[in-house]
Amino acid sequence: MTSIGLIILLLLLLQHSSVLFAWQDYKDYHVFELTPRDANEESLLRKLAREKPQWDFLGSRRRENESTVRVMVPHEEASSLVSLFDSHQLKHRLLIEDLAPLVQAQRAENLRSRLHLQLPHIDVLAAFYTHAEINAYLDSLPERYPKRAQVKQFGWSYERRPLKVLTISNGDGRRNKPVILIDGTVHAREWISPSMALYIIQQLLENYAENQELLQDYDWVIMPVVNADGYEHTHTVSRYWRKTRKPTTDPECVGTDINRNFAHEWGRDAGSSSDPCEDIYRGERPFDQPESQVLRDLLLHYSQRLNFYLSLHSYGNYLLLPWGYTKDFPDNYQDMMAVAEAGAMAIVHATNGIYSYGSTFYLLYPTSGDTTDYALGVANATVAMTMELPAGGFLGFDPWVSHIEGLVTESWVGVRAMAVEVIRRYPTIVEDRK
Ligand SMILES: *[C@@H]1O[C@H](CO)[C@@H](O)[C@H](O)[C@H]1NC(C)=O
Ligand SMILES: *[C@@H]1O[C@H](CO)[C@@H](O)[C@H](O)[C@H]1NC(C)=O
Ligand SMILES: [Zn+2]
Repeated sequence: MTSIGLIILLLLLLQHSSVLFAWQDYKDYHVFELTPRDANEESLLRKLAREKPQWDFLGSRRRENESTVRVMVPHEEASSLVSLFDSHQLKHRLLIEDLAPLVQAQRAENLRSRLHLQLPHIDVLAAFYTHAEINAYLDSLPERYPKRAQVKQFGWSYERRPLKVLTISNGDGRRNKPVILIDGTVHAREWISPSMALYIIQQLLENYAENQELLQDYDWVIMPVVNADGYEHTHTVSRYWRKTRKPTTDPECVGTDINRNFAHEWGRDAGSSSDPCEDIYRGERPFDQPESQVLRDLLLHYSQRLNFYLSLHSYGNYLLLPWGYTKDFPDNYQDMMAVAEAGAMAIVHATNGIYSYGSTFYLLYPTSGDTTDYALGVANATVAMTMELPAGGFLGFDPWVSHIEGLVTESWVGVRAMAVEVIRRYPTIVEDRK
């Protein structure tokens, strides 16, 4: 790097961290890997995850019988964690002794790759972008694609960031086509999610020649960042933040899980938490988060023609269908399974990437108040799905910049195949919306 480049990099580092905010550097944070050996040990881990919100069990709410679970703790907690695990004879090993240099290396990689950023142009594969940069890019699209791209602000985040939605059409002027609606970044730290949303946008706009069929009879509506405040927080303060940034009833704990805040079977204890300090805190009431209200309004706005709702998350390689709140299956479960299967098969053929698909409750664990249950149960989406993109990096949520391309190109194969299947099954608006 030239010395000017180095100076700019230092300036960027300063501007992005120490001046405005105290960047959480994760100094001496330990990451342990746990290997539960039976159902008793699994339920013990789930119990610990509930009792110890200061230990970040990154895998504890993942699938039952998953072979390993990672937990991140500040070093002053490490010895009590180890002795607790020893006393229960839980198999564990120290994976990372100090998370700080790794987080810092990723941060430097990302800042370096943004040195030549010339907004509003962005190269999706070359860096992770902030909410403001993503908005600048979205805002530039109608000028470049006047017939095909429309940007609309659907509301504001709690910290007053404008929440924007892009509609993409083929420009033929036909109104009221059925809609594929995609959101990203409901959870702040899942950085591959906004990258994926942006990659989809580029495929539909810039790579139109290859993807025309996807816009012949359908419009696509894409909201790359739902949890704008939380996402900004992961860029400026704390890389592994998940929830919103609105204060809660507990002065010690900030933020609500948007994906437990929706008003379909909201508030069940099996699938959400009433404790503001937990990562799956559901809020005091459904939709008490401005960002949830915006996504709700978006879903309801398109509900008459919502043939496919897809929510992009990471990680785990899952295509998750409703319901999350009950073990029962929705009436059109088999139809949704056929769409998921089309995606999973396309990916396995393209890259050998393996996805599991099925209902959230059945495949993962109970959730209540999530966005797909609402999309199906209230907004009458024909197909509603959460896509858990593959893991990356140290904790799953933190792929390196150099891995973006592999992740999004593989995932696009699946998204595209599912869109093709939805369009084939439902060539027009599905009239009988329940
Ligand atoms: C997990 O393992 C236990 C014991 O081997 C088994 O009974 C249970 O069905 C498994 N659960 C899943 C979801 O595979
Ligand atoms: C969804 O379908 C039900 C049953 O037909 C209907 O009562 C309800 O108004 C629909 N919801 C929306 C948002 O259109
Ligand atoms: Zn998520």
